[in-house]
Amino acid sequence: MATNRTFTMIKPDAVRNGHIGNILQMINAAGFRIIAMKYTNISLAQAKKFYEVHAARPFYGELTEFMSSGPIVAAILEKDNAVADFRTLIGATNPAEAAEGTIRKRYATSLGENAVHGSDSDENAVIEGDFFFSGLERF
Ligand code: CMP
Repeated sequence: MATNRTFTMIKPDAVRNGHIGNILQMINAAGFRIIAMKYTNISLAQAKKFYEVHAARPFYGELTEFMSSGPIVAAILEKDNAVADFRTLIGATNPAEAAEGTIRKRYATSLGENAVHGSDSDENAVIEGDFFFSGLERF
């Protein structure tokens, strides 16, 4: 069953480059409601756990080191058709292929450092949101 929630992270590159405010503004303007949000820094072990599904990929080491290299903003977002609509808002994984006006087109620098994460399915949105947030942290 489709849910109306997705999970996102503003990644360390976008945080370092000062884009938190602009990215949150784009998320709000696109009609997403923030259910939960935190500014935090995950350890290498936590990044490995979060991205476990990619463990066999050649970029797993690079990805997990990058994601634990500095603070991130994690959030659960709500909107009708949240997973698909958020993936449209952020654009293609590789910013070179991202459409004009998308978050990655504006703020991502490379395939590895691509500014934002967005869940790829309703099921993963739940798993990823539960990784970061307790019930008491959702509003
Ligand atoms: P994300 O949506 O967070 O989920 C997995 C991430 O792996 C993806 O964003 C990319 O940033 C990253 N990724 C995918 N392919 C590559 C690659 N070939 N090299 C480095 N990172 C990659």
